[in-house]
Amino acid sequence: MDAHRRRAWEALEIGPLWRLRPPPPDSSEPLTWTQLQQTVSGCKACVLADSRQQTVFGAGAQPAAWMLVGEAPDQHEESSGEPFVGLAGQLLDQMLAAIGVNRSTDVFVTNALKCATPANRDPLVEEVSRCAPYLKRQVDLVQPRLILVLGQFAAHSLLGTDASVVSLRGVVHTYASAAGPIPLVVTHHPAYLLRNLPEKAHSWSDLRLARRTFDTYPVTR
Ligand code: URA
Repeated sequence: MDAHRRRAWEALEIGPLWRLRPPPPDSSEPLTWTQLQQTVSGCKACVLADSRQQTVFGAGAQPAAWMLVGEAPDQHEESSGEPFVGLAGQLLDQMLAAIGVNRSTDVFVTNALKCATPANRDPLVEEVSRCAPYLKRQVDLVQPRLILVLGQFAAHSLLGTDASVVSLRGVVHTYASAAGPIPLVVTHHPAYLLRNLPEKAHSWSDLRLARRTFDTYPVTR
């Protein structure tokens, strides 16, 4: 601004007013819980953004001792905005109760995908990988003592493998979170159990493995 104009503004007492702008968000800083929720709800990283009604971030305690990760919300869950509210969710609640875990106080539940897929089709590899950073950040913020993975797509996201549930279940894996290693147990998805009742015995043994691991794994955080 030239001196003449500045003097005129000063004479009229109208400025100029200089205000410091807020600093731009530092993109190298990891997102807080609220920032992560906002980022997920506005996500357009894959085609599912075009067909979804709303994202389903997850629900439950935060931080939580247990973190459960399923596949993707279905249309029912998409409308309610909460994961595992249908029949599969009821079975999940019973499975947790059987090992003494209370879903409302001890658990954060989420999915590998935060959007429903059209007609409930299987998630695509690309969709799982686009959503994986959100899940990773959720684990870092929830800081669970154990992660229970429900089905192959969540296993693919967290373990970076395309192995089957059958080959991954029955052992304790380790997830490398930002705050240190977290034991991770893979089991069948409850929706799969509803269609394949004989597999319930395997899931029961996985849940007992998860419980034993939770009770004995050294707590370092
Ligand atoms: N509901 C969810 O939220 N996730 C699943 O994987 C299945 C049903």
